[in-house]
Amino acid sequence: MALNNKNEHLDDLFNYDAAEMIKLDKENVWHHLMQHKVFETVDPMIIVEGNGLRIKDIKGREYLDAVSGGVWCVNVGYGRESIAEVVYQQLKTMPYYAGTAGNIPAIKFAQKLTSLLPRLQKVYYSNSGSEANEKAFKMVRQSSRLKYPGKEKIKILYRNKDYHGTTFGALSATGQEERRTDFGPFLPGFVEFPHACCYRCHFGKTYPDCNIDCARVVEDVIIQEGPDTVGAVFVEPITAGGGIIPPVPEYYPILQEICKKYDVLMIMDEVVCGFGRTGKMFGHEHYDVDPDIVTMAKGTASSYMPLSVTMAKNELFDVFKSDPSDKLAYFRDISTYGGCAGAFAAGCENTRIIEDEKLCENSAKMGQYLLDNLKEFQTFSIVGDVRGMGLFAGIELVEDKVTKAPVSEAFIGQVIGDITAQGVLVGRTNRSFTNQNNIINLAPALVATKADIDEIVQAIKNALEKFSK
Ligand SMILES: Cc1ncc(COP(=O)(O)O)c(C=O)c1O
Repeated sequence: MALNNKNEHLDDLFNYDAAEMIKLDKENVWHHLMQHKVFETVDPMIIVEGNGLRIKDIKGREYLDAVSGGVWCVNVGYGRESIAEVVYQQLKTMPYYAGTAGNIPAIKFAQKLTSLLPRLQKVYYSNSGSEANEKAFKMVRQSSRLKYPGKEKIKILYRNKDYHGTTFGALSATGQEERRTDFGPFLPGFVEFPHACCYRCHFGKTYPDCNIDCARVVEDVIIQEGPDTVGAVFVEPITAGGGIIPPVPEYYPILQEICKKYDVLMIMDEVVCGFGRTGKMFGHEHYDVDPDIVTMAKGTASSYMPLSVTMAKNELFDVFKSDPSDKLAYFRDISTYGGCAGAFAAGCENTRIIEDEKLCENSAKMGQYLLDNLKEFQTFSIVGDVRGMGLFAGIELVEDKVTKAPVSEAFIGQVIGDITAQGVLVGRTNRSFTNQNNIINLAPALVATKADIDEIVQAIKNALEKFSK
């Protein structure tokens, strides 16, 4: 490939020989979440271009990316020149200063975020979803110690099947055993409670005759742990990597009531659900719930730049305000890359695009169309359940619809291989649960059209037809 760069020094970076790049990739790049032994027989995928929902690999093969960059994050689609432009302008003007000081796009983006979530008036910046969650834990722990001297009201309750990130705090709060295997010991003070997936109800019940026990059980856990030791309940509004699980409508109001009763904060991890993924700007807006802390990343700048946010209510922020002579009472936390001004500019432009192009509305409309189509797959012998909200959907594959025994990993691997061979990239539960990585997931960019959805649905249908008994 040859580019005509005005600045010839850039040629070295942007021009390449495909075979050499593949060789060097194998030699030097340690890919995420990959068993590298496979690269002895197949080449790694190397993505070189993108536009809208379409991407091209280094071998010239084109794909419809139905997972927005593999991990549900390029919400506005590829090839957005206006984001590149604002980042370029900002980097030229002022690329960086530590978050101890302000900068213009950081202020403007915070203003936008607080207008979107007016109950959360304080915005803390960092640069990954995991880090945004770590900030939330630190806010809970420190504010609790400031507010209740002598008490240790600091435990974080998290939900089985939820994923919250790769750092030790976030992993200690993750309810997916395969993501944790071999990495322990984990941090003390994190306690798991049951998931909210109706298809595999923890209590063996059927909605709506279930008393919403999956939410009510949290009260039992708080009592068991001791209300004076529990600082926060931490959840994804809709479980993402754990299998696309939207809790039933009653779930969050019940959880909220329990939290209020025991003076426990509620943290919503909007890292995946935020910025239109579920058909509203934030996933928790589908529910009657009022979280104290909300974290976000991925779609915040559609991953054109690394950017994450931890938003908190004024009441929480005010706990940290005190006489400056108390040298330890303020929030003693920093994140170097929480000061990258280009990322805030990208966040501003990304949000403008989502609003101006009505991408939440498109996500809701096209998401419903996608879900309606996928629901028809329930006639296939291997489709146990279909779930979703907005442009975010999961198809749970089973060997037997009565026992709900999950298909093997080798089997779902073949199904996904077939879909990929048709030119559509979909995702799956990946190293999440022991013998239960059986869910195909979909999260196309929010600009998806009916024709894009038809193409995705057709490719999945072809594969299911081939592999159903
Ligand atoms: C719900 C959720 N929270 C947090 C994270 C961690 O984000 P990051 O990979 O940016 O650290 C992820 C990543 O997939 C996620 O799905």
